[in-house]
Amino acid sequence: MCGIVGYVGQRSALDVVMGGLRRLEYRGYDSGGVALVVDGTIHSAKKAGKLLNLDAELAENPLPVAHTGIGHTRWATHGAPNDVNAHPHLDETGRVAVVHNGIIENFAVLRTELERAGHDLLSETDTEVVAHLLHDELARTPDLSDAVRAVCRRLEGAFTLVICDAEQPDVVVGARRNSPLVVGRGDGENFLGSDVAAFIEHTRDAVELGQDQVVTITPDAIVVTDFFGAPAETTEYHVDWDVSAAEKGGYEWFMLKEMDEQPQAVADTLLGRHSPGGQLQLDEMRLSDDELREVDRIVIIACGTASYAGLVAKYAIEHWTRIPCEVELASEFRYRDPILDKSTLVVAISQSGETMDTLMAIRYARQQRARVLSICNTNGSTIPRESDAVIYTHAGPEVAVASTKGFLSQVVACYLLALYLAQVKGTKYGDEIDDILAEIAAVPAGIQRLLDEGDQVRKLASDLSGARSILFLGRHVGYPVALEGALKLKELAYIHAEGFAAGELKHGPIALVEEGLPVFVVVPPKGRDQLQEKTVSSIQEIRARGARTIVLAEDGDDDVIPYADHLIRLPKVPTLLQPLVATVPLQIFATEFAHQLGHDVDQPRNLAKSVTVE
Ligand code: F6R
Repeated sequence: MCGIVGYVGQRSALDVVMGGLRRLEYRGYDSGGVALVVDGTIHSAKKAGKLLNLDAELAENPLPVAHTGIGHTRWATHGAPNDVNAHPHLDETGRVAVVHNGIIENFAVLRTELERAGHDLLSETDTEVVAHLLHDELARTPDLSDAVRAVCRRLEGAFTLVICDAEQPDVVVGARRNSPLVVGRGDGENFLGSDVAAFIEHTRDAVELGQDQVVTITPDAIVVTDFFGAPAETTEYHVDWDVSAAEKGGYEWFMLKEMDEQPQAVADTLLGRHSPGGQLQLDEMRLSDDELREVDRIVIIACGTASYAGLVAKYAIEHWTRIPCEVELASEFRYRDPILDKSTLVVAISQSGETMDTLMAIRYARQQRARVLSICNTNGSTIPRESDAVIYTHAGPEVAVASTKGFLSQVVACYLLALYLAQVKGTKYGDEIDDILAEIAAVPAGIQRLLDEGDQVRKLASDLSGARSILFLGRHVGYPVALEGALKLKELAYIHAEGFAAGELKHGPIALVEEGLPVFVVVPPKGRDQLQEKTVSSIQEIRARGARTIVLAEDGDDDVIPYADHLIRLPKVPTLLQPLVATVPLQIFATEFAHQLGHDVDQPRNLAKSVTVE
């Protein structure tokens, strides 16, 4: 949700900033802009649409060479995505340029105050007020960092700000409250970015910023304070992936690359968690076993795809640990006055670690004395930092807006959590845990097989690309898979797609079924619970009403053959692990379907990767 870059050093600031913006474009792509400081003047360019438009603008109207600069790629909140509302925003004298991620909630009051004082604001954005407030503040407080701190004290809401000043050419100042900002430490140069991808090409040494902090970077120094100027403690870390992980590596889209990385992401998320003696270990578990033994209820909070990983987790947690578990959308959680206490474990799942709805939910949970464990893919991000414990998924950077390897690795981390709780609570013996871990460890080979067999799914997507509505059915852990299959298709192909619990169909949704409607059905493995048989009955019911059935069933399940217009074979895995394999063909299908329609697979319309507004 908006990508921000800042640079001071010896290189061409424009090259560094544009390179950073390209890596951050997944965060928002409604418009882009840059501002450079050259000889006491700010030069800026901005353009609606993707960065390609900004590139064209810069080619037509080149900016002078500079060594200090800032940049922005936008996901619009206040004001339409046009040139005027694009960042950076300047004050009326053109002394300061500001880029911003987040929402300044009191901007209307501040804007009225500024207009009454004679300021002329040009855009509809909340951001522009900051440039004008800084103009006034710099008249009183010539130091940019002091002025930024004074302005931040007046702002409410969520904001990351990055600012440059024509009169302080070797300085870039950043500030953060509730939205992400990290510092890249270079040699004779320093960087700011919404995430480390912004500067990974230049340095892998990063500095985490805390809540309500201001950072001042010059070529040789990084100074961090709170909003009142008191020095702040920071944490330095080394990024464990490099620039090649953040590049397409020969793939047409990041999403294809990330789907192909799934066997590795699953294996890496398991790596090092199981000691030779058989004990499961989660290194980032900062809750003691005694504290975990006290847990009598689990509440999982997450958004979108991550919430579907949470739904899978519910089945695993309740089955393996017998601890009651519920799953709630993070955006709804704190508004229903949930009942929480210190024996409630709140599990937040977030690939980015920055999703505002999830962050606000965990803050609420902690205020209510619940313990918070997060499952996250982004080291140093806000959600794990504010949690009592964290299990990192080791999927590597996920750049495509639609989550793929992020989801599978979240599911694996959920299994690990469930097994760890089972170990601590004694609801599973060590050898049972070993067996399940061995089953999970075997899954990457199955995922690889499905990726290798992707052509048949791509052919199907091409055959069905005229469809305007597609349904997805599943039962048990196949239900979240159905929801995920539908979400992938909605976000990439922009067509009506819905996931239903197969058993629920007869209570209403079956009315949607008409001649030729494509319906995917995820069939559970055969077991004692008769779920396979019941799902086969559902397939018969929809087929009798004209549906074109696309059946995902495990190898050897021949009961489905008579009722499948198209059959996708899944490797045999235990029921609870089936989401790790069944999701993969649905990802391939959505990607190819969108491609057939000519859509941008990595950057679907209206979306952004990291949703840092509520
Ligand atoms: C869908 C998708 C989103 C995210 C959701 C949560 O493909 O990517 O639904 O899953 O916005 O994001 P994180 O996991 O970063 O909190």
